[in-house]
Amino acid sequence: MSLDSHIEKVLWTQDQILDRVAQIASQITHDFQAAPDPPLIVGVATGAFLFLADLVRGIQLPISVDLVRAQSYGSGTLSNGAPTISFDLKFDVKGKHVILVEDIVDTGCTLSSLIAHLESKGASAVSVCAFLDKPARRKVHIKLVGDGKFYKGFECPDYFVVGYGMDFAELYRNLPYVGVLKPEHYK
Ligand code: IMP
Ligand code: MG
Repeated sequence: MSLDSHIEKVLWTQDQILDRVAQIASQITHDFQAAPDPPLIVGVATGAFLFLADLVRGIQLPISVDLVRAQSYGSGTLSNGAPTISFDLKFDVKGKHVILVEDIVDTGCTLSSLIAHLESKGASAVSVCAFLDKPARRKVHIKLVGDGKFYKGFECPDYFVVGYGMDFAELYRNLPYVGVLKPEHYK
């Protein structure tokens, strides 16, 4: 059985994704062109890995890239509460403008705890660059740090989506587009 046959509906095609990611990369390039230092780009593993890879290749600034891992999801589609940071940054963020790159903002719990973590480590500003924003399920307001901005790719309807880095039970991250699984595969 082919991978595509697991998908009930495609929400964003690979071409739509790459066009939108290129636009965000241009926006970031523009916004930081005159800044004294380029931002530090921090991807949230694992879900942001494809978005991060496409985004950074479009940013025309001499940036550094780091990764952090926060675990909030088990193997299902529901958050298991307050996330823990299970893999920390390599770089010192003191005085830096950090752009956190996330696959999707759902309840907002993961992002909020990561922002608080970066702020406690002395980041002077924290921006968020989320590929998808699912506002229907938001539980906590995302409070940015300093002159941080919120960049987003698309607003996501209230579905559990897979692909372009996002998983269900650690599967489907490798899909080059974003879609919804057929009900028999959400098991
Ligand atoms: P939050 O803490 O509820 O905002 O959840 C954030 C994390 O949950 C995201 O970074 C994703 O890794 C995961 N997540 C939330 N919604 C989805 C979805 O629809 N598909 C796949 N992963 C999701
Ligand atoms: Mg994530």
